[in-house]
Amino acid sequence: MNDGRMMEKLHNIQTTYGYIPENEIEKLADEYAMSKTKVYGVISFYSMFHTEPTGKYLIRICNSLSCHLNRSDDVVTGVQEYLGVESGETTEDKKYTLEIVECLGHCGEGPVMMVNDKIYTHVSKAAALKILKECM
Ligand code: FES
Repeated sequence: MNDGRMMEKLHNIQTTYGYIPENEIEKLADEYAMSKTKVYGVISFYSMFHTEPTGKYLIRICNSLSCHLNRSDDVVTGVQEYLGVESGETTEDKKYTLEIVECLGHCGEGPVMMVNDKIYTHVSKAAALKILKECM
């Protein structure tokens, strides 16, 4: 198996569909002569891949130690209350998917929040809600 090639294919599939559909997992399993479970294992190892459709806006909030020390809990709670969903869930209108995640790589600038590919640093609860309200 060529891991790099599989990763590239997973990225392409995710870009095309917004997630990795079951039929594409079956194709990859056939192509790489591995079980579907093993392909799922690869997918689930990387948080950027999803096996279910996500909302138009994928909201990621870091709750690792550095961000936690800067009160990321306030941001997490505020966003969960505003959206009415928990981590891993999508709003009924399919607009937002929320993920509480490990480090987003900006530990000295926490709390850190990501909306699709855009990073926001030093985010307060009020700033997070403002960002969400501006998502069109
Ligand atoms: S701990 Fe939050 S970005 Fe690293």
